[in-house]
Amino acid sequence: MLQENSNFAIRWPKGHRHTEMIKEHTSYSLLGHNTFGIEAKAAKFIEFSTEDELATLLKNGVDAPLLVIGGGSNLLFVNDFAGTVLHSAIMDMAVVADDSDTVLLRVGSGVNWDSLVEYTVNNGWHGLENLSAIPGEVGASAVQNVGAYGVEAGELIHRVEALAVADGSKRTFTQGDCRFAYRMSIFKAEEKGKNVITYVTYKLKKSGDYKLTYGNIKERVEALGGATLANVRRAVCEIRAAKLPAPENIGSAGSFFMNPVVSAAKADELAALYPQMPQYNVPDGVKLSAGWLIEQCGWKQNPHPTVGVYEHQALVVINRGGATGAQVIAFATEVCNSVRARFGVELKMEVNVIE
Ligand code: EPU
Repeated sequence: MLQENSNFAIRWPKGHRHTEMIKEHTSYSLLGHNTFGIEAKAAKFIEFSTEDELATLLKNGVDAPLLVIGGGSNLLFVNDFAGTVLHSAIMDMAVVADDSDTVLLRVGSGVNWDSLVEYTVNNGWHGLENLSAIPGEVGASAVQNVGAYGVEAGELIHRVEALAVADGSKRTFTQGDCRFAYRMSIFKAEEKGKNVITYVTYKLKKSGDYKLTYGNIKERVEALGGATLANVRRAVCEIRAAKLPAPENIGSAGSFFMNPVVSAAKADELAALYPQMPQYNVPDGVKLSAGWLIEQCGWKQNPHPTVGVYEHQALVVINRGGATGAQVIAFATEVCNSVRARFGVELKMEVNVIE
């Protein structure tokens, strides 16, 4: 029986130091806090490292508007931010329940996502390995329901703890409460802007099957010597490194658009015209590959000096250097217009645009 233990056995992941203090800055550059590499300033930037510190901040009230950021890997700043940017540096993690086949791991919202994945893989816990090498932090995994290679974080999330922005009171969301869907959760819908996530608890397995059906993962894992947690992680890291730009080298927010879902009738019409078009059946229709649609519109050849799409993955809009948020939006609008004109398909932005 899986039972939770309130005497948390704290384990610190490698490289994380715990420093208790609120850090507050005014007129603060967000350049180091958005992987797009856009220069924007926050009127106020506050970092907290415990739930108590956050509760004090929220009870006293912070200057509005409020923006909570994680690793800044899914954000596009169009202007300076006139209010308060809050960032979690809650870094502890603990096994809160453990039986012969399951582990509940409660993780601070400020923990780097890939450090968490590496830690779980090193401990032999199954679940997060396909989500290796995704930039960002733990809190955002619940907001965004990050997904890759056939797995979404929401499938592994057991519980989300947060404090209410309104009064700092504690709130707890079960997996069902979170209403996870493709790159979507209650924290991007009804609860948008109402909570600051402090901890996410993941339910992981001590053994289990591997999910190798997406793309060429199986082939890569076999080339590495067969399915183990470490080999799946390595394969995913290698595939991502080949397709997606490293934020330290090229500014981007990963996938800029979501993959569009169209009706079966529309998908058939497109398949008749473009037999090579990738299509995937999903419960609510047929999912198309935005990257493929964008590439077909010729954007990989676009010579725009500051903004473009990544040469190995057209779904990723890149900052070639010195781009402003407004230039990125203007470019993205042109991309959407071209896809609509050619295929009659609407692309929606995945990135969170901060006006
Ligand atoms: N494709 C092209 N040209 C391109 C890009 C893709 O033809 O420039 C084709 C590929 O050949 C393939 C299909 O489109 O047939 C799908 O491509 P891929 O496997 O690279 O995945 P994706 O659908 O483009 C999604 C996620 C990624 C995630 C991968 C793997 C979204 C919006 N994006 O991309 O997530 O890593 O699947 O699971 O769902 C992110 O969210 O930031 C992100 C990188």
